[in-house]
Amino acid sequence: MRPREIQDGVYWLGAIDWDRRLFDSLIPLPDGTSYNAYLIRGREKAALLDSVDPRMSEHLLAQLEDVEALDYVVSHHAEPDHSGAIPKVIERYPKAKVLTTPKGKGLLIDLFAIPEERIEPVEDGQILSLGDKTLRFIHLPWVHWPETMVSYLEEARVLFTCDLFGSHLATTDLYADEGRVYEPAKRYYAEIMMPFRGVIAKHLEKLKDYRIELIAPSHGPIYRRPEFILEAYRDWVAGLPKNLAVIAYVSMWGSTKRMVERLVGALAERGVKVKRFDLAETDVGKLAMALVDAATVVIGTPTVLGGPHPLAAYAAYLANALRPKLRFVSVIGSYGWGGKAVEQLAGLLSNLKVELLEPVICKGAPRKADLQALDKLAETIAERHRSLGLG
Ligand code: FEO
Repeated sequence: MRPREIQDGVYWLGAIDWDRRLFDSLIPLPDGTSYNAYLIRGREKAALLDSVDPRMSEHLLAQLEDVEALDYVVSHHAEPDHSGAIPKVIERYPKAKVLTTPKGKGLLIDLFAIPEERIEPVEDGQILSLGDKTLRFIHLPWVHWPETMVSYLEEARVLFTCDLFGSHLATTDLYADEGRVYEPAKRYYAEIMMPFRGVIAKHLEKLKDYRIELIAPSHGPIYRRPEFILEAYRDWVAGLPKNLAVIAYVSMWGSTKRMVERLVGALAERGVKVKRFDLAETDVGKLAMALVDAATVVIGTPTVLGGPHPLAAYAAYLANALRPKLRFVSVIGSYGWGGKAVEQLAGLLSNLKVELLEPVICKGAPRKADLQALDKLAETIAERHRSLGLG
């Protein structure tokens, strides 16, 4: 695809990765992704903001074919999907300097062996003049690596945010269709940004000082209405959880599944929304998205070799790592002759500031008393949600 002008002298470059289905050998990409770079041609100097995944570097190099001189390459984030093609870019432009944060400098050297003398660290608030265009660097660390920054093109009021506000969405639409992008952006937030939501909340405050007309991330389309994605982030990062219970379960012989079915019905009768995930076949991205909003998570597991089923342990590990806004957790399931499923799952949730609601664990198939205990658990969840003003 050829460069596309988004403002006077500002161009989208990059690569659309239609077929990629996995990121970090972990995260499903049902909609593919893109690696956006941006070229700013000022009257005196030219700067390239970010690059592309090195596997697609030939796309970027072809787009730069008509650019005779490049003075700067800005690395907002050192991860290879944005900085991995920088070595090839600076090889073509031997006078170009790489601008990044001080921490970014170390990472670019460690990851790509970029020569130290080619890199110039920039300070928070530092300005770069390209002649008639002025770029201001804004350090926003821990989005989601320690070296991250964004930049603001002052005359056109464009904020270039790299991963922040991105979406894994392969599309030829340069600008966001808000109805289409909401879910990929939320999925992206859930999987990548949610563990850092405390620091991102502070960054959102810092960005209030800027009048922004376009937000141009390095994954997915550009936002022509910045308030759309800013408002979504404010909700995901800092809003209250919703009146939602996520039930993530695995069942081997049906007992745990019967318990889940009873609990789902009992919660629904009490006005609590439920999202149910069978961990044997679920898309972890959908589970992560549900965790953005959930006030409660219930993990359902049989006891296997004295502990939780490995898929249940994985769900607990994931919830613990993603640090959602959860307030309540419980465990349900069945066992044959003993074990420590509840204790082991609780031990996997140590990052979360949650109340552990009375687990319901039955021996063998669930009987009347077990089903009544599940009704009681549903009542407790509904009551806790009401006490937070949810629902
Ligand atoms: Fe899109 Fe953190 O890289």
